[in-house]
Amino acid sequence: MDPLLVVSRLTKAFNGVQLLHGVGFRLGAGEVLGLAGPNGTGKTTILNIICGLVRPDAGAVIFDGHDLTELPPHRIAGLGVGRTFQLPRPMRDLTVFENVVVAVAAGRGVLRPRDRAKARDLLARVGLSDREQWPAGRLSSGALRRLEVARALATCPRLLLLDEPFAALSIKEERELMALLKSINRQGVAMILVSHRRRILRQLAHRVLLTTAEGTFREGTPGELLADGELEV
Ligand SMILES: Nc1ncnc2c1ncn2[C@@H]1O[C@H](COP(=O)(O)OP(=O)(O)OP(=O)(O)O)[C@@H](O)[C@H]1O
Ligand SMILES: [Mg+2]
Repeated sequence: MDPLLVVSRLTKAFNGVQLLHGVGFRLGAGEVLGLAGPNGTGKTTILNIICGLVRPDAGAVIFDGHDLTELPPHRIAGLGVGRTFQLPRPMRDLTVFENVVVAVAAGRGVLRPRDRAKARDLLARVGLSDREQWPAGRLSSGALRRLEVARALATCPRLLLLDEPFAALSIKEERELMALLKSINRQGVAMILVSHRRRILRQLAHRVLLTTAEGTFREGTPGELLADGELEV
């Protein structure tokens, strides 16, 4: 079976500094790839290239047969790629519900009755039904991460890009997010999960790609890379 995503020989320099130097990997449908590596080695940039926010200098990203490097972000989202950001950026003055409904209706400009129903379903799925009418700015970090996930699910992705979703969460919030991501994955959604933490990667990732300061990469199972002492606890 063809992989869902094939990333090949990505190179990217910013201001003359070579950040990615031939990074590539494959991801099957429903598979979870962990993305780890030291700060500033291009993890977020890899996600930005896949979702169309950054153009690579060379290389290709083929998702379900489409070359994403030729497409604008909204088309890529429409093909089934959702993402969350390293720093959540909700519309803080809008309600939690409005934040999700805007994502559901994105690109259409017109709100249909079924968009509201879908937004409610998504909020139920991430466990935020009881906070629908709160201004998004009032949510705790854990709830904010789950709001981000609800927004990312609005386009029914087959691939979800998650940029350090577990950063700065309490143990309880971490447990809730872990359960949510596992349940989403069980429904067949593939993921690329940026995290430095071995406990997180061991629970969620089938394989891990490790970026390096040289712009190259190594790939292995969580166990192999953990044995090398490459990841944080
Ligand atoms: N759009 C941009 N314009 C200029 N420089 C950029 C841009 N995006 C990223 N960079 C630079 O590329 C380097 C790597 O960035 P990136 O955010 O991809 O790394 P990262 O592995 O996600 O780091 P972290 O672990 O801190 O999140 C940084 O030095 C950053 O300043
Ligand atoms: Mg980053």
